[in-house]
Amino acid sequence: MEKRKFIYEGKAKRLYETDDQDILIQEFKDDATAFDATKRGTIGNKGIVNNKLSEKIFTLLEKKGIPTHFIKRLNDRDMLVKRVKIVPIEVTMRNIVAGGMAKLLALDEGIILKKPVLEWHYKEDKLHDPLINDDHVMALGIATPKELEIIKKYSYKVNEALKKFFDSKNLILVDFKLEFGRYKGKTMILADEISPDTCRLWDKTTKEKLDKDRFRRDLGNVEEAYQEVLRRVMA
Ligand code: TMP
Ligand code: ASP
Repeated sequence: MEKRKFIYEGKAKRLYETDDQDILIQEFKDDATAFDATKRGTIGNKGIVNNKLSEKIFTLLEKKGIPTHFIKRLNDRDMLVKRVKIVPIEVTMRNIVAGGMAKLLALDEGIILKKPVLEWHYKEDKLHDPLINDDHVMALGIATPKELEIIKKYSYKVNEALKKFFDSKNLILVDFKLEFGRYKGKTMILADEISPDTCRLWDKTTKEKLDKDRFRRDLGNVEEAYQEVLRRVMA
């Protein structure tokens, strides 16, 4: 399938129509942003790494019974995906305190949580993706109670599958963000990407950060960290 009409440009990806109205091409860019796009830059070859990592992880999740938008990787930067209407919540799952949770509750990074913490953040950069709860989601009609139950069930399943997978690659899955969408107006499926842009990954032995925090916090060796995650995941 080939790219037809360009339809959307996000911070890290572009979307194009194809000859099939239910199928899009998702193109991964090297652009990187942080802090609601107030910090901007590029990470060399990030698009290629995130395309390959997302392919690998979506394939694994499909095998575990989680439906995703992934159909097929086409080349270095493009994958075929099912066209969905994104639910405007960033679904965040945390196993270890870091980032936003450390800041919100003035906690040290690295505290191991007694159970995974699932959060909804309303997807709106201008408002800094505010934390909202189940009632906000249902009362504002962002998702129905039934849809919310499905999203919760899939998110915990994704966490269990990915914790185990990354552990086998000597990586700790600290936290991650998922996005879901409705395919053909109804079926809730996992969409977007799963990559070091959307997951915090620490080396199991040294606790070195191997994710976008290297860019957010100017830690250096950003491209190398992405390449290292790809190398381990593909090994
Ligand atoms: P946070 O601690 O900044 O809330 O981030 C939690 C996880 O979500 C982390 O793995 C990075 C990811 N994330 C995104 O994918 N997009 C975002 O816009 C933000 C803020 C975080
Ligand atoms: N990608 C997000 C942004 O640019 C934030 C982040 O991942 O830190 O706002």
